[in-house]
Amino acid sequence: MTRSGPGPPSTVLVTGGAGFIGSHACVELLDHGYEVIVVDDYSNSTPEVLTRVERIAGRFVGAVYELDVRDRRALSAVFDRHSVDAVLHFAALKAVGASTRLPVEYYDTNVGGTTALLRAMREHGVHRLVFSSSCSLYGDAGRGPLDERTPARPTNPYATSKWLCERVLADVCARLPEFTVLSLRYFNPVGAHPSGLLGEDPRGEPDNLMPYVAQVAAGRREVLRVFGGDYPTRDGTAVRDYLHVMDTVEAHRLALDHLGDAPGLHVYNLGSGSGSSVLDVIDAYARASGRAIPHEVVGRRPGDVAELVADAGAVAADWGWRPGRDLDDMCRDSWRFQRLNPQGYAGSARRPGPPR
Ligand code: UD1
Repeated sequence: MTRSGPGPPSTVLVTGGAGFIGSHACVELLDHGYEVIVVDDYSNSTPEVLTRVERIAGRFVGAVYELDVRDRRALSAVFDRHSVDAVLHFAALKAVGASTRLPVEYYDTNVGGTTALLRAMREHGVHRLVFSSSCSLYGDAGRGPLDERTPARPTNPYATSKWLCERVLADVCARLPEFTVLSLRYFNPVGAHPSGLLGEDPRGEPDNLMPYVAQVAAGRREVLRVFGGDYPTRDGTAVRDYLHVMDTVEAHRLALDHLGDAPGLHVYNLGSGSGSSVLDVIDAYARASGRAIPHEVVGRRPGDVAELVADAGAVAADWGWRPGRDLDDMCRDSWRFQRLNPQGYAGSARRPGPPR
């Protein structure tokens, strides 16, 4: 079946729907009456996540397919079976450090996955896509809020893969005017669903700050290493623009409403516009959890930059989207998930992880 007509989409295919942001997006869509179809290879997630999504939403996901988005035949069969109006494409590898060791795997999954998806969409007359992009493509762009016109200067294969996807999407949209793509450049999505049922559950040692802090607060890890105390920032630690995952997925729902606005590729930053240092996050988490967060300042992490803060004025002006939750909310919700799920989703079967 194919469909990609005018009007707001009602059936949405979510790739990576069992992942951190994808699962929260599924809840958001189910809560707003969408029919949701999920594809996920569970390489960094588990089917249990979707059971929880349905429990929160009080509705079922329309269908779930365990597949790798690079598998064209399997993907095509999903489009054959469902009348998809639009796609939210989250499925990707996202560990910056791993990407430097495994560039081929990162390009294959992230760029190859996107082109396989585009091909299946085109073959089935589906032309509306919301793409998960990343602020990491700005690289070391310098200080101050960055708007979407900031030139891309990716510094690792993960970031380059996202930038390449945007280049591909721009070219596809330029040549095939039936396509509309909204590329959302996330700054640092963190936090968890307020129910405590869904959150971020990285495999093994977390790569990212907030999941690491959560595990230190819970006593699962002894000490947080703060990567770099000599950055030219107000306290010497690196500054990022943290964004609650619930605000992030609300922006995706709005994106679906705006897919009909104009054809072509449109790029938006998703951030709060305000920066928090690593020490700010530690303080906020200590307040939220009532636990001390033992930490020690060590050397900088290769590839890190001093500051990345969004100018998110475009999405505010065009869609009226502004994040409603602050760092304390992010820490509180992350801590609730950590407390209620001390071993994450473990206990439910988990598939072998992504390449690390
Ligand atoms: C990176 C990417 C981002 C991507 C995200 C997902 C860049 C610039 N950003 O975010 O696009 O979506 O990963 O994986 O490539 N830190 C510590 N100790 C830790 C862990 C982190 O001090 O144990 C520090 C980091 O050095 C950094 C900050 O905390 O300054 C945030 O790190 P992290 O959560 O990993 O996110 P980014 O690297 O900003």
